[in-house]
Amino acid sequence: MKIKKCLFPVAGYGTRFLPATKSMPKEMLPVVNKPIVQYGVEEAVEAGLTDMAFITGRGKRAITDHFDISYELENEIAGTSKEAYLTGIRELMNKTTFTYTRQKQMMGLGHAILCGESLIGNDPFAVVLADDLCLNEGDDGVLTQMVKLYNQFRCSIVAIMEVPEDQINKYGVIEGEALRDDLYRVTNMVEKPNADEAPSNLAVIGRYILTPDIFDILRNTKPGKNGEIQLTDALLEQAKNGCVMAYKFRGQRFDCGSVEGFVKATNYCFENIYLKEQTNK
Ligand code: UTP
Repeated sequence: MKIKKCLFPVAGYGTRFLPATKSMPKEMLPVVNKPIVQYGVEEAVEAGLTDMAFITGRGKRAITDHFDISYELENEIAGTSKEAYLTGIRELMNKTTFTYTRQKQMMGLGHAILCGESLIGNDPFAVVLADDLCLNEGDDGVLTQMVKLYNQFRCSIVAIMEVPEDQINKYGVIEGEALRDDLYRVTNMVEKPNADEAPSNLAVIGRYILTPDIFDILRNTKPGKNGEIQLTDALLEQAKNGCVMAYKFRGQRFDCGSVEGFVKATNYCFENIYLKEQTNK
């Protein structure tokens, strides 16, 4: 079964960016000249995925509008040099379908993913947390790397990276049996542990491939850390069958859910992508 679907949970409040996110989704904050969420969709399309499914919430309509025709604007700039600014997003829209459903109450990432069951069905699928911006210029993107691994192992895969001790309490953390330098079979997972309780320094970031049995597991997952239905708890359950891998990806990752990470991503993209594109024009 080839992976075609990608789920984007974008229902969170983005409180770390208030007041900017009072009426605007954080996923629409621009990193240079593109909203964060568009980078995520581009990465999914590069990985060969064609069906984009969004878990939205109240106040997130700007995302739906972004991946649709803006008739008046497009008519206005048709035939002018400005039309070129929309080439990238038009190409994305031509290659993909977009479906949406709402998470009515923010009950955690696991709950958001369960809300996507009607959009995903019984197929393996990717998950992108768009506020983790991943870049890997000149090489396979992170999702492409993960889809290739899925085709080999046919089980759920989480992307991991090493993080310093003082950051570990912000992440889900894995413990695993090393299969290669960059690949582990997950044996344990803890959501946001204190540094002295963390099973390793390998933190899960916002890229996943999930097999659809995760939905039944999530349905039976009780609220965990912070009273939320945690994807980490469901993955730990899935790992009991030996079928969750953790993959140390190649590439850069910016935590655009934090102001500091967002500014770093902006500086990086301006210097390494935007300016180069301008010079090559
Ligand atoms: P975060 O906790 O990082 O995002 O959730 P947030 O809640 O939007 O941000 P802050 O902490 O208030 O600043 C990780 C991802 O999971 C989604 C978020 O949209 C984000 O992409 N999420 C989280 C949901 O879709 N629903 C939830 O109930 C929780």
